[in-house]
Amino acid sequence: MMTMSQTLPLLCVFLTFSFFTPSTCQSTENHDCKTKGMFVFGSSLVDNGNNNFLTNSLAKADFSPYGVDFPLGPSGRFTNGENVIDILGKKLKLSDYIPSFTDPSTRCGRIVNGVNFASGGSGILDDTGALAGNVTSLNQQISNFEKVTLPELELQFGNKNSKEILSDFLFVVGSGGNDYSLNYFLGLANTNVSLEAFTNTVTAILSAQLKRLHEFGARKFVLMAINPNGCSPMALARVPTQEGCVENLNRASAMFNANLKSLVDDIRPQMPGSNLVFVNAYKILSDIISSPRSQGFRDASNSCCEVRQVSEGGTGILCKRGGSICSNRSEYVFFDGLHPTQAVNDVIATKAFSSLLTDEVYPFNVDNLSQI
Ligand SMILES: *[C@@H]1O[C@H](CO)[C@@H](O)[C@H](O)[C@H]1NC(C)=O
Ligand SMILES: *[C@@H]1O[C@H](CO)[C@@H](O)[C@H](O)[C@H]1NC(C)=O
Ligand SMILES: *[C@@H]1O[C@H](CO)[C@@H](O)[C@H](O)[C@H]1NC(C)=O
Ligand SMILES: *[C@@H]1O[C@H](CO)[C@@H](O)[C@H](O)[C@H]1NC(C)=O
Repeated sequence: MMTMSQTLPLLCVFLTFSFFTPSTCQSTENHDCKTKGMFVFGSSLVDNGNNNFLTNSLAKADFSPYGVDFPLGPSGRFTNGENVIDILGKKLKLSDYIPSFTDPSTRCGRIVNGVNFASGGSGILDDTGALAGNVTSLNQQISNFEKVTLPELELQFGNKNSKEILSDFLFVVGSGGNDYSLNYFLGLANTNVSLEAFTNTVTAILSAQLKRLHEFGARKFVLMAINPNGCSPMALARVPTQEGCVENLNRASAMFNANLKSLVDDIRPQMPGSNLVFVNAYKILSDIISSPRSQGFRDASNSCCEVRQVSEGGTGILCKRGGSICSNRSEYVFFDGLHPTQAVNDVIATKAFSSLLTDEVYPFNVDNLSQI
C-alpha cells in the first residue's frame, strides 16, 4: 500500500499541469485582483478548524451549536457562522474559504489562495495555552508555513522564488489575547513581571516573528488588535459584582494594542518594501458594546449559546456540546463566553476592509493595502 507521502508529489504534479488556474480572482470592475490570497496566523478569533485535527486539544469548536449558521455546519470556527477571515476573503473576491493547514486535504492546488495556520488557545509566547492541551503556538505556525507550505507553494507556481510570489498575498496575524487570559493572568508568567514589562516582551517577540515572515518574502501585513476581553461574558461571569467591564483585562488589551499600533510605524523601516495595517478590533467592538442598539444589536453582555461554566468543570468560554442557543444570533454580540457572533465579525471585517477612520484602521484600510 502506498503511503500519503508517496502519492502526494505525483498528485501535485498532476494538479500543476491540469487544473491549476493562476487567476482565481473573480472581480470584474475596479479591482485589479492584485491580492491572490491570505496566509493567516493567530488564535481562535481567526482559526478555521486547525485544532480539529490535533489530538489532546481542549480548544475545539467542531461540535454543535458552533457553525449553526455556517453553510458546512460545525467546522472548528469559534462562532455561529463566518469569522473575520472568511468575510475578509469575500471582500477580497477570493474564490473560496482559505483552507486550514492541519486538514490533510490542504495540499497542492488547494494552497494557491493561501493557508490558515491559526490555532485556538495559542499565543505569541510558546507556553501560552498549555492548559488547553495541544495547541499550535505562533512560532510553530510560522515554522509550518516555512517548512511545509512554502516549498509546496513554490512548486505550484512553477518553481518561482518565494519572494516573487508572496508579495501578492496578505499576511494576517491575530494573536495576543491568550498571552494575557491563558498566560499572564493565570500567573504562568513570572508574577513579579509588571504588565508593562510583559507587554513589551510579547511585542518584541511578535516583532521578531513578523521579520521572519518578511525574510520569506511577506510584504503586506494585517495586524489584528486584541478584543476588549474584559467585557466578554466569561470575564463578567468571573467578577459578577463588577459594573461594566473588567478593567484589568481591558487595560492589558489596550496596552498591547497601543504597542501593536506603534509597531506598524516602527517596524516598517526594518522590513524593506513592506506595508502594514493595524485593525483596531478593540475600538470597533467597544463601540458596539457601549451602544449596541445603534448598530442593530440587543444583547452585548450575555453569550448566545449555553456556556460550560467553571462551576461545571468548563472554562466559561466554550459552548456546551449540543446546548441551547438564542433564536436570533444577529441580536447578540457574543456567541459563546469569549467569541463574537458572525454579525459582529461582519462589522469588524467590513471596517477592516473599507473604513476611512484612522482610529479603526491605521494607517489605511485593507482595501488600500491590497491595491498597493
Ligand atoms: C498534537 O496533535 C498532533 C496531530 O494529531 C500530534 O501529532 C501531536 O503529537 C499532538 N501533540 C500533543 C502534545 O499531544
Ligand atoms: C523576579 O523574581 C525572581 C526570583 O525572586 C528574580 O530572580 C527576578 O530577578 C525577578 N524579576 C524581575 C523582573 O524583577
Ligand atoms: C434578528 O435580529 C436582527 C438584528 O437585531 C434584526 O434585524 C432581524 O430582524 C431579527 N430577525 C428576526 C427574525 O427577528
Ligand atoms: C484608501 O482608499 C480610499 C477609498 O477607499 C481612498 O479614498 C484613499 O485615498 C486611500 N488611501 C490611501 C492612503 O491609499
